Amino acid sequence: MHITMKRRDFLKSATAVGITATIGSSLAESATPQSRIQQGFKPVVIASSNGMKATAKAMEMIQQGVDALDAVVSGVNIVEDDPNDNSVGYGGLPNEDGVVELDASVMHGPTGRGGAVASLRNIKNPSRVAKLVLERTDHVLLVGEGALRFARAHGFKEEDLLTEESRKAWLKWKENLSKEDDWLPANDIDSIDIGEGIKSAIRNTGTINCNALDLKGNISGVTTTSGLAWKIPGRVGDSPILGAGLYVDNEVGAAGSTGRGEANLLSCSSVMIVEYMRQGKSPEQACLQACERIARQTKMKRLKDANGRPNFNVNFYAINKRGEYGAASIWSGSKYTVNTGEKESRYAEFAYLYKRERG
Ligand code: GLY
Repeated sequence: MHITMKRRDFLKSATAVGITATIGSSLAESATPQSRIQQGFKPVVIASSNGMKATAKAMEMIQQGVDALDAVVSGVNIVEDDPNDNSVGYGGLPNEDGVVELDASVMHGPTGRGGAVASLRNIKNPSRVAKLVLERTDHVLLVGEGALRFARAHGFKEEDLLTEESRKAWLKWKENLSKEDDWLPANDIDSIDIGEGIKSAIRNTGTINCNALDLKGNISGVTTTSGLAWKIPGRVGDSPILGAGLYVDNEVGAAGSTGRGEANLLSCSSVMIVEYMRQGKSPEQACLQACERIARQTKMKRLKDANGRPNFNVNFYAINKRGEYGAASIWSGSKYTVNTGEKESRYAEFAYLYKRERG
């Protein structure tokens, strides 16, 4: 078979190859942490808005020479342990039966390994269990009862993850016989007008994603969550799905997400963001491109506002091999956290597709 390539296509692919080589070669040029630092190389840790302490902790460990994966998992453990963050770990908002179910994934750039757990009950640090799946199994994803038995086998203690505050929030939702649930009536496969508009403001999809570049120039990431509040039991979001809620390629960079997992599962944004960066996009441009892709792929009427825009938010966070970072959301109004070697982390502004009107 004879394949002809148009000049424009050839130039496009030549550019992509050139950019890949540039990103890859920045590792080869400086082989030791010391020589990297002398060349102006800076490690970086980026996370969602609830990651101030997580990014600071991860950076502190990275500066002591710790691998990026150990650093980000230790960082997010702070948020998983925090009863006041009701989107992650202990104190996370429960499913519609009032039971907390957690999802998490990790990915280690230098070895290309990944691990994840989904619908895990009674264990407050799913990110640590996900890391053990990576280290101590030949699998990538364990779910439900199997994930719990695996965690028990490795000595994790079971505990009730529902705090008083989360239980009361669930009871209020239950007692009001809310229509804000996830069941839809029988429908025609061609229909895009099924169910009522979701009120995303009162449906919690908070999560923490944290990605880092360490002193060896290696990249890793983690995403951990209690998922969508009041979800149908067994619902799994994007966080534990590698390619959707998290993706790492040590030659290029890392990306992860928070927000409406269903939208991200249908567009596998994290792997797309890494591929956009491989083609030469900055982390911020790549994240914005993933937002555009979700907006384009959102067809259901109940998921759109009066102007045809998604009525939910998804946020993306990315770093590349050169230590550049960026983030973007579908809607404006939130911030992310970053640390490039300081004692304290700082907030940074998202790029966004649509400006949220105040009101
Ligand atoms: N992005 C978190 C979730 O939807 O579960």
